[in-house]
Amino acid sequence: MAKNTIILGIESSCDDTSAAILRGHRILSNLVAGQSIHQKYGGVVPELASRCHQENIIPVVQQAIEQAKIKITDIDAIAFTQGPGLMGSLLVGASFAKALALSLNKPLIPVHHMKAHILAHLIEESNVKNPTFPFLCLTVSGGHTQLVHVESPDKMTILGQTIDDAVGEAFDKAAKMLGLPYPGGPLIDEYARAGNPLKFSFAKPRIEGLNFSFSGVKTSILYFLRDQKLLNDNFIEEHLPDLCASIQHTLVEILLDKVRKACKEHQLTEVAIAGGVSANSYLRSRLAKWGKENQLNVFIPKFEYCTDNAAMIAIAGQYLFDPTFEGNQGITADPRLKW
Ligand code: KG4
Ligand code: ZN
Repeated sequence: MAKNTIILGIESSCDDTSAAILRGHRILSNLVAGQSIHQKYGGVVPELASRCHQENIIPVVQQAIEQAKIKITDIDAIAFTQGPGLMGSLLVGASFAKALALSLNKPLIPVHHMKAHILAHLIEESNVKNPTFPFLCLTVSGGHTQLVHVESPDKMTILGQTIDDAVGEAFDKAAKMLGLPYPGGPLIDEYARAGNPLKFSFAKPRIEGLNFSFSGVKTSILYFLRDQKLLNDNFIEEHLPDLCASIQHTLVEILLDKVRKACKEHQLTEVAIAGGVSANSYLRSRLAKWGKENQLNVFIPKFEYCTDNAAMIAIAGQYLFDPTFEGNQGITADPRLKW
């Protein structure tokens, strides 16, 4: 990659339409248009998501170019999320990226969404320290929970992953049981601040190795709430902060147990977190404290790089960019893109 290569990144895998411009490893602009329409349905509605992407994509890209103070013809390549994600959503970003690349006669760079979450740690900013290779990355989102051994930008090995639900899904489903709107993860985080994390306890899974499981905890929360509500109809309303803090504590403990194990087994001293759930304040503070106590370097992303954003797609594009590379118009979106 040339030091000053300008890459336009486009992300549209789920319900955020995002465009970013990076010059080298530095961000010139990073815009995200969210979609509040899904809230009333209690989850992302794929059909509505693709329609919103269709409406948002051109204004978002235009604003990203304006904010970066570049001309559209200054762009050297276009990186876009190829997958995994929702097919309709991915198609909007992929088709737009292909059309723009064709009209500008620039190369296209397909990017793996989950690898991009990890590579967001390589964005360079003043006063931000980047991890050095090899490092461990705990990647936690609404669709994934993975422990990844990152040896280089193109050598990443999954050490463990969830065998059922993702941790973000567990946060959102638990929030739904508490009567909170979608996406409930950030609300659990907020209510938990005033609660006692040890007030209630929920069954933790016993999974061998470095894999995770969250479906048992979900059932344990469901039965606990059902039993308590039989005794007191207002149980949830009366104990909301303690319930949120205890659920959050259980989910974060499951994650941290495996992070500790992975570091020990693979002798890693640099640990990063990525993905939407890495915005969780309890996970961030527990991880930072553990790192300090054990002389490990912990890397916690800025909030804007936790949830879906195009800056992470553009930085991945910087690493994948090959100036000799032409076209790539044959590439299509892949909702189940392999690692
Ligand atoms: O990475 P992301 O934006 O989208 C996916 O690729 O899935 O992650 C979204 C997930 C949702 O499940 C959301 O509830 C969760 O991240 N999330 C949080 C917090 N902020 C976002 N979960 C717990 N605490 C938070 N503060
Ligand atoms: Zn994501």
